[in-house]
Amino acid sequence: MILAEQGGLSAEQDGEDSELAKLMQEIEVNFSAVKDLLGYSEYKEKHWKIILESAQNIREKTVLMSQNFSRPDDWTYQELLESIQIVSNKIVSITKKYNKEKATAEVKLQIKALRQTCAKCHKHVDNLLELEN
Ligand code: HEC
Repeated sequence: MILAEQGGLSAEQDGEDSELAKLMQEIEVNFSAVKDLLGYSEYKEKHWKIILESAQNIREKTVLMSQNFSRPDDWTYQELLESIQIVSNKIVSITKKYNKEKATAEVKLQIKALRQTCAKCHKHVDNLLELEN
């Protein structure tokens, strides 16, 4: 499998791999929802609701990833898996803050941190595959 193909990631369609891909696709859907909100300068209640639900979903899926697809021999991978849980936790707690104006800037920073974590892990996985080939 060549992850870098067409600039995207593709999953092998067998057993464990496709389960992981399914989790990733669910994470992707939730991440897209929050990413789309980066362009707004102000969030209304409905936006905060989307952010909260998406972050909770991402957290839930990444916990499942840790439980079912951890890679104990791969420190970087484990660390990034932990980061993504920490960041989604932060997003959840920020959405519960009283001062929404201040929270908007904070939550945007965390959404960007989330994006970086996705990219870092995919790059890491990519590099591993290149080493194997
Ligand atoms: C700790 C590592 C890690 C993190 C963090 C991570 N991913 Fe992934 N991602 C993977 C791996 C490994 C695959 C390849 C799965 C496979 O081929 O079975 C993948 C594949 C994908 C795919 C392709 C799924 C498919 O259909 O083949 C998408 C989409 C994706 N990730 C989105 C995201 C998004 C969005 C984030 C951040 C919010 C994220 N990932 C964070 C490890 C990670």
